[in-house]
Amino acid sequence: MACEPINFDPLIMADGIAPTNDPVLLFRSPAYAVSYAKRLSGQ
Ligand code: HEM
Repeated sequence: MACEPINFDPLIMADGIAPTNDPVLLFRSPAYAVSYAKRLSGQ
């Protein structure tokens, strides 16, 4: 079954909102990108 080609990146924020330097938070972008690529490639 196909999945929605949408990558949720929690570091894309509205103007006026900024992320903290929390390394766990900052690591979410690459983790979600890897997951997105795996979903699209069916892995
Ligand atoms: C405040 C902390 C976090 C919140 C609120 C959060 C929230 C979420 C939500 C709502 C989803 C989607 C679940 C669904 O589709 O049903 C998700 C997916 C995911 N999360 Fe997090 N998350 C957090 C932290 C993290 C961290 C620290 C990592 C790894 C470094 C991570 C990795 C992932 C991955 C790989 C997915 C699957 C993404 C995909 O659908 O392709 N998350 N998260």
